[in-house]
Amino acid sequence: MMQTHIIGVGGYLPEHVMSNDDLAKVVDTSDEWIRERTGITQRHIIAKDEYTSDLATRAGAQALEDAGLSINDIDAIVVATTTPDMIFPSTASMVQHKLGGKGFPAWDIQAVCSGFVYGLAQVDGMMRGGMFQRVLLIGAESMSRILDWQDRNTCVLFGDGAGAVVLESRDDEGGIIGSVLHCDGSYRDLLLAKHAHPGASPHNNRLDLNTDAAGVAAVEMKGNEVFRFAVTKLGEVVKEVLEKYDVQQSELDWLVPHQANIRILNATAKKLGLSTEQVALTVAKHANTSAASVPLALNDIYRAGKVKKGQVLLLEAFAGGFAWGANLVRWSK
Ligand code: COA
Repeated sequence: MMQTHIIGVGGYLPEHVMSNDDLAKVVDTSDEWIRERTGITQRHIIAKDEYTSDLATRAGAQALEDAGLSINDIDAIVVATTTPDMIFPSTASMVQHKLGGKGFPAWDIQAVCSGFVYGLAQVDGMMRGGMFQRVLLIGAESMSRILDWQDRNTCVLFGDGAGAVVLESRDDEGGIIGSVLHCDGSYRDLLLAKHAHPGASPHNNRLDLNTDAAGVAAVEMKGNEVFRFAVTKLGEVVKEVLEKYDVQQSELDWLVPHQANIRILNATAKKLGLSTEQVALTVAKHANTSAASVPLALNDIYRAGKVKKGQVLLLEAFAGGFAWGANLVRWSK
């Protein structure tokens, strides 16, 4: 039976590192508060002349190199991002061009921090259906560009970066076991970026000459409520994906979670009976890189040589929307 396998992994973080102490010079916060409440110690910030597509291109190039492939071996590029270079064309089309590809399809998907988990589910379905043999899937974000740097409730939480995988469809055991996805749009007001630049929302109505809203970017969040909902729903979705694909909790080797807050991560790991050593943890150094956080966490344990063939990985994420989901993978590389 044709299965979708991860055959290459890559990641890229912008050079500039902003520590909690650096942040405390900009906004009323402290290293102690951020560490204790979130587990974050630093985040990477995109350079002034860089774009999300640049981060994505670097992560994608590393994943291709890891797979031993060139861009000409790829049938499609999918980029999960909530911070695209432009409204259009898609960031994926720019990445295709920057990597030297042509002709094959390239598109973006938007499920905020769950973008990579959604993307893996979508691409896996298409590959099982026989549409593509090899796909480059990337999660890439420049969250620093849509933050209100005066709002300590949000600006301390996010960072920039990109992670990527090369997927291959082949008749071989292992690979992606399956996914579950959810969304509940009624929670929109708890986590959103309604003035995100460049946005096509009514807030950016350029016909109204009095508006000064055009181009203003700001993530808004009711942190406490998001926290509670995320812990509950992630606890449910990890159980759901195990049950759906008939995988026992005791078979799990790795949790590769979205990196929003160490306390949310620990709650999910505890629910699954996993030890700290079985959790891919990058939140301390990367903060929340939205759609990039799951592939960057995967890249971290992969490059450290910790993931072994045959091991079972559970990927999960929770996002604005609210949108959440999980993927089960049997490592076959
Ligand atoms: N530095 C210092 N103090 C801060 C602060 C900061 N960066 N941010 C908030 N505070 C203050 C608040 O103003 C509040 O003060 P008050 O009690 O005087 O009003 C106090 O700290 C506690 O705030 P609270 O929101 O209750 O803290 P918390 O323990 O819930 O932690 C979050 C806040 C944001 C870290 C936490 O709720 C969280 O991680 N939420 C989920 C975020 C998330 O996952 N988002 C993305 C999903 S993809």
